[in-house]
Amino acid sequence: MALPMPDLGRLRVANLADVPRIALVAAAASRKDYYHEYMHPHMEVHPADHLAGWRQTITSRVQNPNYVVLVAEDQFDGEEASKVTPALRAVYPSKNEQFPTPVTQAGKVVVAFATLCLAPGSPRYGQFNLDGNTSRGTTEVLQNRARDPSSDEVINRLLVPAVMAHIRGHAHLDGLYTHPEYARRGHGTELLRWVVALAMSDSFTVMVVASQTGRVFLQMRRFRFPLRVALPGFRPSKLCLVWFGAGGISEGNTVRHIVRNVDDATPLDFYNVYGERIP
Ligand SMILES: CC(C)(COP(=O)(O)OP(=O)(O)OC[C@H]1O[C@@H](n2cnc3c(N)ncnc32)[C@H](O)[C@@H]1OP(=O)(O)O)[C@@H](O)C(=O)NCCC(=O)NCCS
Repeated sequence: MALPMPDLGRLRVANLADVPRIALVAAAASRKDYYHEYMHPHMEVHPADHLAGWRQTITSRVQNPNYVVLVAEDQFDGEEASKVTPALRAVYPSKNEQFPTPVTQAGKVVVAFATLCLAPGSPRYGQFNLDGNTSRGTTEVLQNRARDPSSDEVINRLLVPAVMAHIRGHAHLDGLYTHPEYARRGHGTELLRWVVALAMSDSFTVMVVASQTGRVFLQMRRFRFPLRVALPGFRPSKLCLVWFGAGGISEGNTVRHIVRNVDDATPLDFYNVYGERIP
């Protein structure tokens, strides 16, 4: 029997039919996310690749038994494309391409989502995997020309392994996005409320890698930022590592561990909360 989970309220767990819409929400919102921009500096030049890349990522998350992909819905606004960049607007998918058939109940569509990687060994493994562990994957893509291979290398070969080596045993919130048309209506807060409630009930800590927009939002919601990372050649060159709660990890140890785990040859510079460089 499935373990009880925090009340979803107006949220729901995503399924594969939601993928095209979630990917669009992500592409629309990620222009504000410097962390994403660092890895995808050419998203304005190759918006279709960017969108397809998101479809691929979201598909893998929805299919992964160790993930929960949660969505928030709102009344569809036919003018929503006016809130995205001109590049994305030029390849904005039609309603038919975005929404499952039949179209959503009462004209509501996905406007925000969160992706949470469960802590390894979580008894909830598979609980949120509505379509089963299919290995269907996407057939599209991809040589994703929106992505920069060298920044991808910095993040995925240097930084993420160092962080992951430490956060074993903790959950990782690796996506929280609201389509700009539907921002400031409480959707982000609602999604985070559920993630935090799950963390409280299962006694784990949530780790997040966030950029400036996310930092302000999360800091207001009791997340702390013990470590910042400057990415080579990038403005505003601050990436924040964050975690929530007191689930058995100490800030000082975590910071030391992550810094130590990054290869000496790395071009990454680390700073503490006071903006002082950590040697
Ligand atoms: C961060 C993000 C997810 C917030 O989404 P959101 O749905 O706009 O979030 P909310 O509406 O819950 O809160 C945003 C603000 O709107 C305010 N707000 C909430 N409900 C509101 C309402 N009904 N009317 C007016 N304002 C409202 C909140 O007080 C909040 O202000 P604060 O940040 O100063 O506290 C969104 O800005 C985003 O997608 N950013 C880019 C990606 C990113 O940085 N993600 C987070 C890190 S992983």
